[in-house]
Amino acid sequence: MTDHPPIFLDRNENQYGPAPRCFDVLKSIGTEKLSMYSRDYARGIKSRLSERLSTELGIPENQILLAEGSEDLIKQAIHCYVGPGERVLCPEQSWWYYRSVATEVGGITTTYALKQGNESYYYDVDEMIELYDRESPRIVLIASPNNPTGNSFPIDDLNRLTEAFRESIVILDEAYRGFVPDIAEHAGELLSRYRNLLILRTFSKLYALAGARIGFALCGPSLNRLNTFASRFLGYNRISEELALAALDSPEYYTSIASKITEDRDRYTEFFANIPGARCYRSDANFLLIRLPPEIVKPLKQHLAAEQIRIKFFEEGEFTDFIRITIGTAEQNTHLRETMRTFFHAIPGQITR
Ligand SMILES: Cc1ncc(COP(=O)(O)O)c(C=O)c1O
Repeated sequence: MTDHPPIFLDRNENQYGPAPRCFDVLKSIGTEKLSMYSRDYARGIKSRLSERLSTELGIPENQILLAEGSEDLIKQAIHCYVGPGERVLCPEQSWWYYRSVATEVGGITTTYALKQGNESYYYDVDEMIELYDRESPRIVLIASPNNPTGNSFPIDDLNRLTEAFRESIVILDEAYRGFVPDIAEHAGELLSRYRNLLILRTFSKLYALAGARIGFALCGPSLNRLNTFASRFLGYNRISEELALAALDSPEYYTSIASKITEDRDRYTEFFANIPGARCYRSDANFLLIRLPPEIVKPLKQHLAAEQIRIKFFEEGEFTDFIRITIGTAEQNTHLRETMRTFFHAIPGQITR
């Protein structure tokens, strides 16, 4: 048993923390930001943050919705559009929350399975379209990259799907965007062609502001009901907005973090390639999904618990032989790999380099 504080690599948080500018913001917050409502609404906009995002993304400010993270936006969208008995189509292997919110409103969740390819999971678009035609869902949820499988939805397939799903609302959850280099900005183009699309983004993951609870949606022009539902006359959390702005002002910091995370993702992949019976799936996110020989899962869980390291073990469903590791700081990752190396060395036939 070790006595260092627990290392949390189980919830896909960004362990590097936010950019130094965010801490400067916190030091500078005074009475005005704490005690007064924002006056931005009187200027005909939601806030400085939505104004800034509008300029950066080339999307009209009134199509940008702010909220307390994408969790909040998923809840608002489903509560706004799904009634009892209506269907929500979402990935079989995905964040449990999608189904939970659909249940809250009496909706019925239908799932489509992600398939296992050579290196990663993938979306089977033909099967999704077939299911869509049969089920006529009110909302289709797609996560790119998906949690826990880590695969992205290819942009060409997205064009095909949004055509096919024209009669429904498509929610594209991009919470884990930004952990692969040089990804093109597709939001403006997609929204101009698909009026029922809702793209969700957050400051929780890449920007390391999960505790500030701030995210935003880019909202297709036909989603007026949600747009009205989500708007707040008295404004939003002004401190979180300032933190988000400071994060947007720090692109070099986040590019450097993303590349450190990418490097460590590769190191883990190499590590598991040397574990007989393990399979590590390619991921575009700040986490990796790994299948292990079933008999190893419980002892590994015990070993890591004793070492005060938390990673994700799945209690039920198809992932009980899997682990999901959030990529932490370089130091945390080295520590976890060393801890696992010791564990695997102690198991006959499980020799790693
Ligand atoms: C796929 C996915 N979307 C959204 C979220 C929540 O993000 P936020 O902090 O913006 O609510 C999570 C949280 O882990 C997630 O896994």
